[in-house]
Amino acid sequence: MDVDHTRDVAVVTGAGRGMGRAVAGRLVERGWSVVATDVDETAVRRTAADLGPLCTAAPHDVRDPSRHRAVAEQAAAVGTLRAWVNNAGILRTGTLWEQDDATMTATVEVNLLGVVHGTRAALDVMHRQGGRGDVINMASMSAFGPLPGLAIYAASKAAVLSWTLTTAAELRHAGSPVRLHAVCPDGVRTDMVAENAADRGSAMIFSGALLDPGVVADAVVALIGSRRMIRSIPRRRAAAARLTGLVPSAMLPLIGVTAALGERNRRKALREPA
Ligand SMILES: NC(=O)c1ccc[n+]([C@@H]2O[C@H](COP(=O)([O-])OP(=O)(O)OC[C@H]3O[C@@H](n4cnc5c(N)ncnc54)[C@H](O)[C@@H]3O)[C@@H](O)[C@H]2O)c1
Repeated sequence: MDVDHTRDVAVVTGAGRGMGRAVAGRLVERGWSVVATDVDETAVRRTAADLGPLCTAAPHDVRDPSRHRAVAEQAAAVGTLRAWVNNAGILRTGTLWEQDDATMTATVEVNLLGVVHGTRAALDVMHRQGGRGDVINMASMSAFGPLPGLAIYAASKAAVLSWTLTTAAELRHAGSPVRLHAVCPDGVRTDMVAENAADRGSAMIFSGALLDPGVVADAVVALIGSRRMIRSIPRRRAAAARLTGLVPSAMLPLIGVTAALGERNRRKALREPA
């Protein structure tokens, strides 16, 4: 089958549920062809079936660099790869002394290395196909400052932010038109949060109102073709989050107050039906 180079194609990882599924849906609504991927093959096949013929599913463990390259080629066989959303991620909350070695390793492998391998696979195909494109990496507001209960997760997301900014600078310096962006949402109402809600270590996630996944999906799609490198959602919470990272010793007492508020909200959320 001939490749239709006029057709814009996007890859969205972790599209079996949550924000990845929402992003894939928004792109299909706008006429994109989407390769939706996930380690949960059943879930991503359901996403593709629900979104219709513009969406195809691919089993994809983001820890495997060779699967990223295969997915990139699958996208290139449909049209021109213009967007790649490194969305897949995992979260296990808890203090570091409560967590096991496997959690530490898996969090870095999925959340950071998954983004690294995805970025590299996307860039290879985007450059081969003519150069333009956007790589959007799902970081988190936890990247900005200290968040008790989320140490390894927040560290992985801070690394995603750093990876995005430095890689974007390398590309600009080399004259590549491919743009990189990092998305930094506050807590979002997805299964990821629901699955950690019973753990006290997740309290900080509940310190603000949980966002709707569709709001984040709109922000992700709006980054395509934009020069913005970091998109925090909501913007008003980002300033406080960044301040805690800039002057952590001054802000630690405030973090205690925020954690207490989050704990109250977490308990309330547990009592409320989903
Ligand atoms: N929910 C939040 O509060 C929140 C806030 C900020 C950032 N994020 C980030 O946004 C992204 C999406 O989060 P979500 O809330 O939709 O999560 P989710 O748990 O609902 O969905 C994540 C998806 O990633 C998939 N996945 C997990 N490990 C994978 C692997 N090794 N390879 C491929 N796919 C894998 C899962 O099967 C799942 O379908 C994640 O990177 C997350 O860290 C979430």
